[in-house]
Amino acid sequence: MIQPDGVRVKIPASTANLGPGFDTLGMALSLYAWIEMKEAEQTVFHLYGDEMQGIPRDKSNLLYQVAQQVFERAGVQVPELEISMYSDIPLTRGLGSSATAIVGALAAANALIGSPLSKAELFDMATGIEDHPDNVGASLYGGIITAIWDGVHAECIRFDPPEDLEVLVVVPDFELQTSEARKVLPDHISRKDAVYNVSRASFLIGALAGGRMDLIGKAMSDRLHQPYRAPLIQGMTRILEEAANHGALGVALSGAGPTLLALVDRHESRKNELEAFLLNTMRAEGINASAKWLLPDVEGVVEISGMPSRSFMDMVKGK
Ligand code: HSE
Repeated sequence: MIQPDGVRVKIPASTANLGPGFDTLGMALSLYAWIEMKEAEQTVFHLYGDEMQGIPRDKSNLLYQVAQQVFERAGVQVPELEISMYSDIPLTRGLGSSATAIVGALAAANALIGSPLSKAELFDMATGIEDHPDNVGASLYGGIITAIWDGVHAECIRFDPPEDLEVLVVVPDFELQTSEARKVLPDHISRKDAVYNVSRASFLIGALAGGRMDLIGKAMSDRLHQPYRAPLIQGMTRILEEAANHGALGVALSGAGPTLLALVDRHESRKNELEAFLLNTMRAEGINASAKWLLPDVEGVVEISGMPSRSFMDMVKGK
């Protein structure tokens, strides 16, 4: 039942909230991590790339811990593992790096033992570990997801993003822990602000699902988390207010930040201007940032077949 050659999976990064859809909306992005998992005589880790520095290489490792949850649930014992991981996804920047690790470990461990668990079960487990369904749902299913979570079960509706949608992310060179960015949020909001967000999140789903890119800008504002997080990311308020004047359809904090995300029509002629506006606005506040142009990922986590003709890193480089 255990795949003797091990398994490999490729997992997309994600952006959460998309402005008004706090802890609910997510979209997968074309920035990836790869995981290989094999049964071994002794647990060993091969963690490649700048983003893997400082990650534990013993059984306290998140990938190992999550894999063991899968084995336990499936009633299988695989105590020793050889785990390899490479990631292009910046850590603690609001692009779902931890969700990617969780989804990748769940999918790889499940595939390693012959896929006894359904995707829906993996979604419940991933959401239980992450505590909100938006990033993990997007990395698991790809595309755009709108999700609900009752503390035990997560459920989502997935749909393809508009064909012409492109995504610009501007990633500051400082980290922001999600837990820190959640501490600044108030426990109570007014009914007026609740209506503001419910209406915009609903409108945004309608615009994205209905291919109405012209309406995205009207929908992508928020009163639930962005105003409270703005002091943590200098320059963010100006970017949210002015990016539309430089060609963005809409702009939001990506997840808990500090990355900022602009949705752009791929035919837009002012892409360079938009990128320069975002980078220069952050630079004026003393923040160095790097820009990446991405596409929505529509596949979610996938198992890579054809093991093991190429080494793990050759497979990653072959992308
Ligand atoms: N919805 C979560 C938040 C996402 O905004 O705190 C964190 O990645």
